[in-house]
Amino acid sequence: MINAIDGPAASVKGTLAKKLAAHYALRHLDTGLIYRAVAKAMLERALRLDDVEAAVAIAKALDPAKFDEAALKRHGVGEAASHVAAIPQLRAAVLAFQRDFGRGGPGAVLDGRDIGSVIFPQAEVKIFVTATPQARARRRAAELASAGEAVNLGEIMEDIRARDERDSARAIAPLRPAPDAHLLDTTHLDIDAAFRAAVDIVEAVRAGRKRG
Ligand code: C5P
Repeated sequence: MINAIDGPAASVKGTLAKKLAAHYALRHLDTGLIYRAVAKAMLERALRLDDVEAAVAIAKALDPAKFDEAALKRHGVGEAASHVAAIPQLRAAVLAFQRDFGRGGPGAVLDGRDIGSVIFPQAEVKIFVTATPQARARRRAAELASAGEAVNLGEIMEDIRARDERDSARAIAPLRPAPDAHLLDTTHLDIDAAFRAAVDIVEAVRAGRKRG
């Protein structure tokens, strides 16, 4: 069973995806890490973030088993990732990896921006997680502060808005709910309540499949 969890930055989609995977004993892939890893390598080599050939070459050489999640989760890396993620050739280069990951048994939870719309349009469960930019900025600030990064809430808010705009406006795989996605607004939910709401959605889909 494929579970596609999409949504904007700091919507808690990643935490929900991880918890759902643990709850249903499925494998989990945070697809944002792929774009972040490409962006980080490009920053380290002082490459332009629109260098198509370099981005594709770096993507082909990636080893997700060696991802350093803490380093990839840094704020600046997320920003750079949203630039490289607009390169169609890069998205094409990382598509097969994501599909192969999802297809291995016993099923998987993938989170990102385009899982339900592009990577697995046939996913059994699609959840699009949202929250207001204010709520997301507060969460991201708390996350970065606990990871020891200096934070300025106003700047984070501005970055979140800019990233939403860039991810939604790009020509390829824009951030948009798939037409058959279940919307889950987490603005007023803590993580336990959001998780219960996500499980309710999965259970309703499963019950519907059994009946159908
Ligand atoms: O989700 P996360 O913040 O780690 O993603 C970083 C960036 O990677 C996003 O802003 C987005 O531009 C890009 N991304 C994407 N498609 C995905 C996952 C992430 O374009 N499936």
